[in-house]
Amino acid sequence: MVGKTVLVTSGKGGVGCSTVAARLAVAFARRQIPTLLVDLSAGNPALDLLCGLDDRVVYDARDVLHARIDPRRAALPVVSVQNLTLLPGATIFDGVPGEAEVIRLFETLRGGFDQAVMILDVPKEIVGTLSEFADLTLAVSDLSAASLRATASLNRSPRAQMRLVLNRCSAERDATGVRPTVREALDYVGLPLAAILLDEPLVVADGATEPGRFRFRPAFDVPIKNLSIRITGGHAPLLSGLIRGRKRRKILADMAKRRLENA
Ligand SMILES: Nc1ncnc2c1ncn2[C@@H]1O[C@H](COP(=O)(O)OP(=O)(O)OP(=O)(O)O)[C@@H](O)[C@H]1O
Ligand SMILES: [Mg+2]
Repeated sequence: MVGKTVLVTSGKGGVGCSTVAARLAVAFARRQIPTLLVDLSAGNPALDLLCGLDDRVVYDARDVLHARIDPRRAALPVVSVQNLTLLPGATIFDGVPGEAEVIRLFETLRGGFDQAVMILDVPKEIVGTLSEFADLTLAVSDLSAASLRATASLNRSPRAQMRLVLNRCSAERDATGVRPTVREALDYVGLPLAAILLDEPLVVADGATEPGRFRFRPAFDVPIKNLSIRITGGHAPLLSGLIRGRKRRKILADMAKRRLENA
């Protein structure tokens, strides 16, 4: 049976949900923690491509959903990252599965693998159902109004442990004055903060040119690694000196004021 289960979702498309799911799974794996990454985003799966496994996919999460294949046979080891296994997503979208189906799939995966951690890239249509069963749900958003609004209205179970991952918070973007500050975003969304990730164009370039390699990009991967440490009960800072000077002090002061807990 799988140990901890973490859902990664987003209210709006294109904000980095799959990127966060993949790199969080890589962070666990690089800490020698056997990790299963599951792509439930039927229709436009991204994780097989990001992991450089797209030409190896035979079965996917939809085959497991419809009980056509043993989940262990559908999963593929990520060649370039030890301790990481991927259950790829379906390229065909055949409708949003019903609540009972979604729960059955989740229980099949949890019982069918023995990795210590399972990270699932979950579309918003089913996160409401699954969030009740997972140990943690991470809602990924950037600082755009459209994404923050969609995040605030995500469905979730009242018992869900849902936290916010703010992605693409580069200093330049904040300086335009058009986007809300981190603090305003937190006020608006009303979720505790799990991580702040900066804009990192090299993450995009790596995905295109070196799929599966997951070069360590500090602006993205240090806060993600720290999040993985907090998820397994350790202590690691939200910001590791990546944002310096006045800006960092302001974010930290804001967070102290709100007594934000760590994930
Ligand atoms: N912090 C970041 N800095 C720069 N680019 C990023 C960052 N996070 C994500 N991206 C890029 O944004 C694009 C969208 O990311 P991703 O596919 O992870 O989003 P998504 O929310 O899963 O989208 P979809 O709605 O298609 O599932 C990708 O090209 C990705 O490399
Ligand atoms: Mg995605």
